[in-house]
Amino acid sequence: MHSLSDRLSLIMSFIPKGVSVCDVGTDHGYLPAALYLSGGFLSITATDISHSPIENAKKNFNKLGIKDVNLICSDGLRGVAKQDAEYTVIAGMGGDVISGIIDRCSYKNEIKFILQPMTAAKTLREYLAKNGFSIEKETAVKENNKLYSVMLCSFSGSPYSLSMGEKYIGAIKPDSEVNIQYIKKQYNICKKCADSLVNVKEKAAEYKAYKDACTQIAEFLEGHNGV
Ligand SMILES: C[S@@+](CC[C@H](N)C(=O)[O-])C[C@H]1O[C@@H](n2cnc3c(N)ncnc32)[C@H](O)[C@@H]1O
Repeated sequence: MHSLSDRLSLIMSFIPKGVSVCDVGTDHGYLPAALYLSGGFLSITATDISHSPIENAKKNFNKLGIKDVNLICSDGLRGVAKQDAEYTVIAGMGGDVISGIIDRCSYKNEIKFILQPMTAAKTLREYLAKNGFSIEKETAVKENNKLYSVMLCSFSGSPYSLSMGEKYIGAIKPDSEVNIQYIKKQYNICKKCADSLVNVKEKAAEYKAYKDACTQIAEFLEGHNGV
């Protein structure tokens, strides 16, 4: 068995035993294979929009003697029944692609999502807030020296607004070294954007938004003794 990366291990730790799991955009199929081998899930389904990842996943499953993972070639959750997707993982894609996959799912308001954007986490958080999905838990993880966020989300029915700082750090708390690193990285991104706009008259509003984000993130870290 290919050992799971810290990123996929963290994602797996967000899934309770006894539920049905769907891994959207499975690629190699490492996550569903690990779930299957650890046992205790109601059903495991994996989808991918392309044929070649599906074939790769099939080969990996065959090597491991795994027969009970349902593999489907489809866009997002198309072709997956709601009862097979109680916990749906969408990982390793851009935040905009993830938002689109959630948006096209007819039963999105009735399941839990575990989301891990590779890029554009801010875009994903904006989509979730606008559409009434709350982030129940969010944790950072490092892979190949890059920091990512993993979020557990579900529909609450109440859209909410996010400050600029919250768009960058989401629900991540400075309660571990890697979380603090993530928050500081987001601070530095906002600072770099603010610095680059400081003398650009027509971008005054954008400059202020990034400055505000820096202030909010710094205050948040100070409030948690995380500086
Ligand atoms: C970089 S891989 C991520 C693999 C795995 N989820 C992970 O996190 O390690 C992204 C995969 O998502 C698939 N994908 C992209 N858009 C998709 C969609 N709309 N529906 C299903 N799969 C999609 C791609 O074909 C690719 O195999």
